[in-house]
Amino acid sequence: MEDEIMRFLKESIERNEREAKEALMKKKQEKVLQLLEKSGLGKRFAKRTFENFRVENKELKEALLKSKEFTKYFPHVEKGLLFMGPVGVGKTHLAAAIANELINNLYSVVFGNVTDLITLIRSTYSKEADITEAEIIKTFTEDTDLLIIDDLGKENMSEYTATILYQIINRLYEYEKPLIITTNFNSSMLKRKFGEKGDAVVSRIAEMCEFVKISSDDWRLKNERND
Ligand SMILES: Nc1ncnc2c1ncn2[C@@H]1O[C@H](COP(=O)(O)OP(=O)(O)O)[C@@H](O)[C@H]1O
Ligand SMILES: [Mg+2]
Repeated sequence: MEDEIMRFLKESIERNEREAKEALMKKKQEKVLQLLEKSGLGKRFAKRTFENFRVENKELKEALLKSKEFTKYFPHVEKGLLFMGPVGVGKTHLAAAIANELINNLYSVVFGNVTDLITLIRSTYSKEADITEAEIIKTFTEDTDLLIIDDLGKENMSEYTATILYQIINRLYEYEKPLIITTNFNSSMLKRKFGEKGDAVVSRIAEMCEFVKISSDDWRLKNERND
């Protein structure tokens, strides 16, 4: 009799634990979906993972390792990452893979190119906008665990753009928050792009990010027929 009671108790405890775990998982999944939607990662980017990143040379191997390490220790990382290299070598793929992994761990990530970020900020100027430029900058810096700027330098760098970027980068620096950047340009080219603010921006970035150089054959060209 006692045995039976014990078994009953044990089973109901186990069932309760299982149900609680399932409820928690479901909640987590919902949160992940919400975070994904907010991040700016489109469907295309959501498929870019560490698992489907191929390492064909030493640089790619190193870049993958650095990305995984960053994710593993996040948010306790000393530096962010700046992926530098020609078009099609997997810079955006790695940045998106980091974003996906962190979102799965319930961190909030904003992922976008400068044009997307600036468009969002610009939209605050419209009369109907109920969120201000300062608030958007706050969203990118204070309220977000990680900002990823994709393809830095590709956009038309007006003085306005340079100023906004400078503000964002400075704010992240003040909050000691990591930053991830992908770019086709080297430091001196980036400096030139930023004009007057060039030295200030690039030296901040150099302080905040570890530079990860990648060069390989253009993946897109190689896989043209499979795309
Ligand atoms: N090492 C790699 N392994 C798997 N896919 C890759 C790799 N490098 C690039 N790709 C794929 O090739 C395409 C272009 O890569 P992308 O990361 O956008 O290049 P980049 O940002 O360096 O210009 C994407 O579809 C990406 O998933
Ligand atoms: Mg890219």
